[in-house]
Formats: sequence, structure tokens, C-alpha cells
Amino acid sequence: MTKDNPSIFTKADTFSVAPMIDVTNRTFRRFARLMSKRAMLYTEMIAAQALTHGKEYLIDHDAENENPCTLQLGGSDPKVLAKACKIGEKFGYSAINLNAGCPSDKVQSGSFGAILMKTPEVISDCLKAMQDAVSIPVTVKTRIGVDDLDSFEYTRKIVDAVYSTGSRHIILHARKAWLNGLSPKENRTVPPLDYDRVYALYEYFPDLSITINGGILTIEDCLEQLKKVQGVMLGRAIMDNPYLLALVDSRIYGENTPILTKDEVFFKVVEFAKDFVAQGNRIHYLGNHVINLFNGEKGARRFRNYLSCHMHELGANESVLVKAYEMMKEA
Ligand SMILES: Cc1cc2nc3c(=O)[nH]c(=O)nc-3n(C[C@H](O)[C@H](O)[C@H](O)COP(=O)(O)O)c2cc1C
Repeated sequence: MTKDNPSIFTKADTFSVAPMIDVTNRTFRRFARLMSKRAMLYTEMIAAQALTHGKEYLIDHDAENENPCTLQLGGSDPKVLAKACKIGEKFGYSAINLNAGCPSDKVQSGSFGAILMKTPEVISDCLKAMQDAVSIPVTVKTRIGVDDLDSFEYTRKIVDAVYSTGSRHIILHARKAWLNGLSPKENRTVPPLDYDRVYALYEYFPDLSITINGGILTIEDCLEQLKKVQGVMLGRAIMDNPYLLALVDSRIYGENTPILTKDEVFFKVVEFAKDFVAQGNRIHYLGNHVINLFNGEKGARRFRNYLSCHMHELGANESVLVKAYEMMKEA
């Protein structure tokens, strides 16, 4: 850890939206910002090597309107990761995160993601190189174990690999990963959650801030978790019910801002959609995220069905959103 890169927890990290491939892309982030100015957003995981091989466009970013936002990198070569960090810093991201928990085959064949948990010293080497390369915080997102390496002692070893670099913030998905036999999807449900293991790490690392992840569904769940750890990270709950984000600034960050209703959020989205389409974007990129906005409401299925049938049509624009909304209200 260098002096000017403390890799500490910031207030923004209190509530994060988890990195999710094919979900937390730029369009999602712009949609999310219509509801929460404060939540920490993450990018999808980006392979460090892709960045260092000229694919910088993958991390295009509007810092002023999207931050706080953490760029998540996948990789296991300290030099490549360090270079990728410099590129991420140049693009204005708030922080950089190393993925040491993703169990997909593609990621394993590149020897990064969850497999890094088997070699904690590689996590340390990568993290040190990344911290030395930039002056923004660099964190690690990992799980509590991998395959048969899932005792408390082993989790402590993984966390120590991060702690020993001087980093004082870690993101822990509170379940282990099985590298053989389970799909990435099954790896998000089959290994049981063990929140107690995460809480127990405090005994050993009292000055480490922990963001807990896995199975957190509601704002009430978040508030309960925040009595025990510093940060919460939600993935699928936001994907399935993005409206949760509208509650975050006031309920989690204590901001004195009115909570928008779903209808109010929707009309902000329609305004945004006009510009989005005028800038040459296809409406379904936005529709993919908006489709779950009304989940749980009467007529939500009609809203989803109308959008999924019509948003891909050539020339579709914001009126497809409005029509879907009208169909829902008629239900
Ligand atoms: C569609 C999808 C894509 C994901 N992509 C990533 C990723 O790129 N990087 C990562 O670290 N985790 C990824 N994850 C895992 C989530 O970040 C998170 O750790 C996991 O879903 C557990 O949190 P949850 O129970 O709140 O969903 C992904 C999860 C989903 C559902």
C-alpha cells in the first residue's frame, strides 16, 4: 500500500450494486442514477488483458454522471493488472476492484476469478501491484472459500492476503465456490450462505471494513447487516427489483430527499429515454433494465410482456415504454 492509496472503505461503499456481467453495463448505471445518486455502482467484470490490448472502449465512462463507480477487473498477472488500473484511473473511476470470486469456466481458464482463492499469495501480489499503480482505492471481491478449502482458517488466509497489503476494505460473498460440477448460476445458490463466518472475521481483523454480499434482498435486510458490517452489496435483488435503488439515498445514506414513487421514476426514465434514443441508442438496451421496474405491482406482467415483445422492433423508441405502462395501468 502506498501512502496516497489507502484502499480504505469510503462512505459511498455503504451500499453497492454488485458487478454483474451483461447487467451492470453503462446503460444500467445511467438508469440506476435516475434513482440513487449515492449508491456505489460497479461495472461488469472486464478482463484486464482486454484493456491492455487496446479495448479501452469497454470501459467508457462518464465520471461526472456515473460516479461513485468501481471498475471491476479480472486477471492474475500483476503487471497486466497494474497497467489496466492506470487505464481505469485515467477514465475517472472512483475505485478499482479485483475479481477473486467468479467461478465461470471462461474465467477459470484465464486463471482468474475464484481460482485465485487457491493461491492467496497471487492475490497479494496482484493487489500490491495494482495499488502501486494508482492513487484511487483498490479492493478485492472474493468468497469465503473454494472447493474443500472452506474452513474458517482458510477464509482468514484469503482475507489476510488482502489485509497484508495494507488494504482495509474487502468485499465478501458469504458462500464458497465449487469449481467443478456447478454452473456459475448454481454457484450462486447451492453453496450455503454463512454470514456468521463473515462476522467472525472481525475478531481477527478489527480495523478491516467488510462489505457483505449474497442473498440480501430488502432495505430492512441491509439495515440489519449494517449493524454488523460496514457495507452491503446487492446483486440479483437489484436486477429483479431495481426500484430498491430509489429507497437507498434516504434509507441507507440518511439523505433528506423525497423517495420517488415507481411512477415518478418511470417518467424520469421516459425523459431519459428520449435523449438515449436521440443519441442513436436502441431502446431495448434501456428496456432490458426498466422491464423489472414494476415487479410486484398489479399489471407488472403486462408491462414486461409488452416491452419484451415490442422493444426490439426496428425504430422503437420511448413510446414503447409509455405504451407498456398504459397496458399495465389498464390491467
Ligand atoms: C448475471 C450475473 C452476473 C454476475 N457477474 C459478476 C461479475 O462480473 N463479477 C463478479 O464479481 N460477480 C458477478 N456476479 C456475482 C454477483 O456480483 C454477486 O456476488 C452474487 O450474485 C451474489 O449476490 P446476490 O445474492 O446479491 O445476487 C454475477 C451475478 C449475476 C447474477
